[in-house]
Amino acid sequence: MGSFPALVVREAGKIRQVALEAMDDAQLPPGEVTVAVQFSSLNYKDGLAITGKGPIIRYYPMVPGIDLAGRVIASDVSAFAPGDPVLVTGWGIGEEHWGGYAGKARVRADWLVRLPANMTARQAMGFGTAGFTAMLAMQNLEAHGVGREREILVTGAGGGVGGVAVALLSRLGYRVAASTGRHELDGYLKSLGAASILDRAELAAPSRPLLRERWGGVVDTVGGQTLATALAGLAAYGCAVACGLVGGSDLPATVFPFLLRGVALVGAESAHCPGPRRVAAWQRLAEIFPEGLPEAMVEEIDLADVPAKAEAILAGRTRGRVVVRLGSSPPRPGPS
Ligand SMILES: NC(=O)c1ccc[n+]([C@@H]2O[C@H](COP(=O)([O-])OP(=O)(O)OC[C@H]3O[C@@H](n4cnc5c(N)ncnc54)[C@H](OP(=O)(O)O)[C@@H]3O)[C@@H](O)[C@H]2O)c1
Repeated sequence: MGSFPALVVREAGKIRQVALEAMDDAQLPPGEVTVAVQFSSLNYKDGLAITGKGPIIRYYPMVPGIDLAGRVIASDVSAFAPGDPVLVTGWGIGEEHWGGYAGKARVRADWLVRLPANMTARQAMGFGTAGFTAMLAMQNLEAHGVGREREILVTGAGGGVGGVAVALLSRLGYRVAASTGRHELDGYLKSLGAASILDRAELAAPSRPLLRERWGGVVDTVGGQTLATALAGLAAYGCAVACGLVGGSDLPATVFPFLLRGVALVGAESAHCPGPRRVAAWQRLAEIFPEGLPEAMVEEIDLADVPAKAEAILAGRTRGRVVVRLGSSPPRPGPS
């Protein structure tokens, strides 16, 4: 059986504690499949869960981590067998069911996605919920017939969802306008494929109901005035995908872009996205990024580093994606 490390959040009254603990299999929650977690990742929502700055965790003690990838150790269902490489994103793990920040997890079989062929657990967690959401957003743009003539605006481009969206759209031949508040990232964003860079302050300022038709589509992770400004500058029949709320959950917009330009505003929802759509989205990520995300986008940390990184992601100080290493890493190539 053997014990394994887990990051556990406990709360009693006003006292909140986040600590690494040794856990054993008997403590795992019920579920059909037990997974040896190799990698997890850090998303904005994990930052809210760990710090307690957002009401993410539904009961305590909780093992946070909304993403995990690893290998099946034990399965009560015929669809999965020991050794199968799998991933889980969303479905309430790390919120209402113990999540990915532990050496093992026990989950429902229908939450699992088999890793696409040739995708490693680390690569899968490079994408994680953020990358999966960027893919859903891109598929929404495609479904709304957004073409390649005009730039696609991506907000919060220095972060996870935004960074994957920039890389993804540019690989598919779209011209991307990346909005960031950190101009020290301009070179990095260009290396991901951004054609132009915008200062996020430009989008955060109150705007007229309609602006010059500028963008063919929008992938927005910020919300609030930024999304309202993006809608005002969306070209006729364009589409904006609301993915996040790092800048606010309000939407101080008018109906004019809808009535006079026929634009669409749709959402991206990753946590409860149905199984077949998930599998298709992961397969597409694997095809577009056969070697995973560019390494410049991915920072690897240990479980013990997660609490400090949780503060950093909420403060907008992480770049791209953060993967969390669990268990033993595959051996790195070295001198023979
Ligand atoms: N709908 C879904 O299913 C779904 C799934 C995943 C994530 N999300 C949401 O998407 C958002 C982004 O998640 P993430 O994991 O990509 O987070 P992240 O890595 O922290 O990225 C967010 C980025 O937004 C920018 N930013 C931060 N604070 C800001 C502010 N006050 N105003 C404007 N821009 C700000 C920063 O980029 P710059 O420094 O480059 O400006 C930051 O790197 C979150 O709200 C998250 O909850 C939703």
